[in-house]
Amino acid sequence: MKLFLDTAEFEEIRKMWAMGILDGVTTNPSLVAKSGRKFEDVILEICKLGVPSVSAEVVSTTAEGMVSEGRHLRGLHPSIYVKCPMTPEGLKATKTLAGEGTRVNVTLVFSANQALLAAKVGAAYVSPFIGRLDDQGQDGMELIEDIVTIYRNYHFPTQILVASVRHPIHVLDAARLGADICTMPFAVMEKLPQHPLTDIGLARFLKDWEKVPKG
Ligand code: G3P
Repeated sequence: MKLFLDTAEFEEIRKMWAMGILDGVTTNPSLVAKSGRKFEDVILEICKLGVPSVSAEVVSTTAEGMVSEGRHLRGLHPSIYVKCPMTPEGLKATKTLAGEGTRVNVTLVFSANQALLAAKVGAAYVSPFIGRLDDQGQDGMELIEDIVTIYRNYHFPTQILVASVRHPIHVLDAARLGADICTMPFAVMEKLPQHPLTDIGLARFLKDWEKVPKG
């Protein structure tokens, strides 16, 4: 399973990229606003780092507007995936952009039928928001299970990108279900390598090493 960071904070991306565990980055208008920086500056900086998949979202609500924004974004850098919302207009735009060879990430997906439609119009990624479903009292992981089944049934090449991840158990469950990608905040990704027994074990090894005769 590929691991993506869901952030527009360059420093967070740089740290995980340096660790060698980062496969991509997803952004959205809220995350870009939070960074306080210009949209295209942030996106290009991430791309120039060498991150192979960087999702940048359109903000138009008409298919025509989304296609025009999507063409512009795609032209900025080869690593860019264009994010279109799961609306009838977003589906139309995805069909057009995908037909031109643009890789589209269909976002704001909350049902298996929406995911089916995203695959049918040629989305490269589908982004189900599991944390927001959990927040509503609906099990977000059940949606991932359904999408995995549906895509396998029909051999859709669309990759399942688990989004709105809140904690490491979401990452574990996504991997158990065979999701293609999991995107998460920095706070979740930095917990993945950690385990108290690793720290205790390392401290003991280093202490014992002091007793080994040297020279
Ligand atoms: O980037 C889309 C998604 O991951 C947003 O997550 O935490 O705002 O529900 P969240």
